[in-house]
Amino acid sequence: MIEKVKILLNEVEIFHPKSKEEVEIFRLKYLGKKGEMNELFKILKDIPSQNKKEFGQKINLLKKNVQLKIDLHKDSFIALKAKENIDTSRPIVLDSIGSKHPISMIKDQIIDIFNRIGFTISEGPEIEDDWHNFSALNLPIEHPARDMQDTFFIQTDPDILLRTHTSSVQVRHMENNSPPIRTLSPGRVYRNEAISARAHCIFHQVEGLFIDENVSFADLKQCLLYFAKEMFGEKTKIRLRPSYFPFTEPSAEVDVSCNICNSNGCNVCKNTGYLEILGCGMVDPNVLENCGINSKKYTGYAFGMGIERIAMLKYGVKDLRLFYENDQRFLQQFNQLS
Ligand code: PHE
Repeated sequence: MIEKVKILLNEVEIFHPKSKEEVEIFRLKYLGKKGEMNELFKILKDIPSQNKKEFGQKINLLKKNVQLKIDLHKDSFIALKAKENIDTSRPIVLDSIGSKHPISMIKDQIIDIFNRIGFTISEGPEIEDDWHNFSALNLPIEHPARDMQDTFFIQTDPDILLRTHTSSVQVRHMENNSPPIRTLSPGRVYRNEAISARAHCIFHQVEGLFIDENVSFADLKQCLLYFAKEMFGEKTKIRLRPSYFPFTEPSAEVDVSCNICNSNGCNVCKNTGYLEILGCGMVDPNVLENCGINSKKYTGYAFGMGIERIAMLKYGVKDLRLFYENDQRFLQQFNQLS
């Protein structure tokens, strides 16, 4: 009889169930009413007393091992079942939430400010042709002002380039729409410049264009004053300095009063009390005609600004390269602002 118990002990030892059902069959085989254990305990009664102790120990060991096997595998199948029930489409629990990039934040603010006075958004391709980036904008081939915009050309074709400003979008918009036109073109632009704290080969612009009958320089000034106050605060003043752009005449560069030192002079405004924020002017009649707009009937103004520059001024960022490094320590500072 002791031999049978040894065989059963071995059977229990090598038992490796593949399913919950196998565990149940195993349980019934050993612990069921008519199972092995009950049979063995019945036999124990009739075992001669000199062998009783050894036999009793063996069947107790067998019972213990059977129970251990059942407990072990019962739990592993429950765990497996839990795994099978995992809903992989469930969104993960986020313990930290990202923030909007400061460039996007400023872009959205600029768009919002101009939206409120009726400007709508227009977008265009970043890979442009010569006509839309230069020629239509009163910059024919060989025009010396082309040098102002260090251009990246695509391969060897001088007609295809990466746009150097979003004025190209305005050309496209004028070609496809008739006045009144009131549009804002935000986007990424490219210039072949050495990368430094103040310049990058990729940056972002927002340009605005307004064309209608009787649009004057006074309208432009008023629009920019409104923008400056909304962007930098109610007390902000603007200053226009005569400048030159081939596509506008007259042209000006616009400064805002430095709100860090209240125009008293500091190292940010280099003691001038003012900070340059954009270029602007009245659209040159040649540009209107190039885009199919009657320059005798319509006039318009245009302006363009660098988003990085506005963000640097607004947030006191001294190095433009920080906007492109994706350093979490830098970006997380804008968490509360977004
Ligand atoms: N396109 C000009 C630039 O990139 C900015 C500008 C736009 C100036 C519109 C005047 C009018 O420098």
